[in-house]
Amino acid sequence: MFKGVLFDLDGVLTDTAEYHYQAWQRLGKEIGITIDRTFNEELKGVSREDSLTLLLAHGGKTNDFTSAEFAELAKRKNEYYVEMIQQVSPKDVYPGILDLLKNLKKQGIKISLASASKNGPFLLEKMALMPYFDGIADPSAVAKGKPDPEIFQLAAKNVGLQAAECIGIEDAKAGIQAIIASHALPIGVGRSEDLGANIALVSSTKELTFEFLLSVWQTAKA
Ligand code: BG6
Ligand code: MG
Repeated sequence: MFKGVLFDLDGVLTDTAEYHYQAWQRLGKEIGITIDRTFNEELKGVSREDSLTLLLAHGGKTNDFTSAEFAELAKRKNEYYVEMIQQVSPKDVYPGILDLLKNLKKQGIKISLASASKNGPFLLEKMALMPYFDGIADPSAVAKGKPDPEIFQLAAKNVGLQAAECIGIEDAKAGIQAIIASHALPIGVGRSEDLGANIALVSSTKELTFEFLLSVWQTAKA
């Protein structure tokens, strides 16, 4: 039986992945870089700074900004994003998530956050989910972001576990790679075209029941 669940936040607990996309799109427009949803799949799960590096490369502008300008662009994107998440409330928690968190608690399974976002704790508070989390991995404490496994290893460690004893839930390609590399068992929220066909997938968080997680674990460990 798994002992912990390591949750991504944006796009798993709520729809904030969409706000990240809109904020990058707005910033991109201001510096002459157009992005679409296909390119956005590359940004999902990736840290703010790494996302900006990818965005500039996408627009052929890798060498156009000084490091001070780079920092200003990253800050500006975050300001756009933070403006959008002020209204987030418990109503915005994705379907099925609250029941899953309650059932995991009932079963004595540890719950830990493995989000790359520095806005993670703010959002957990806004959605009234903080009491369910036994641990939160601080993204500024890891040397390498997703797809490196470090944030998932840290999220497991923060609740006294090894990643291999946990399930990780992600909506991003980089996140699934990070879970696999950490030796946790991945469950993807999304499409096989984006996340890969060789892992357990759900198309909606409604499907993320405790029984489903248990069956994924038992099948993988059989
Ligand atoms: C991840 C998002 O959860 O957090 C990424 O999927 C985002 O899109 C990253 O870039 C960093 O978030 P923040 O809020 O610290 O800029
Ligand atoms: Mg995500």
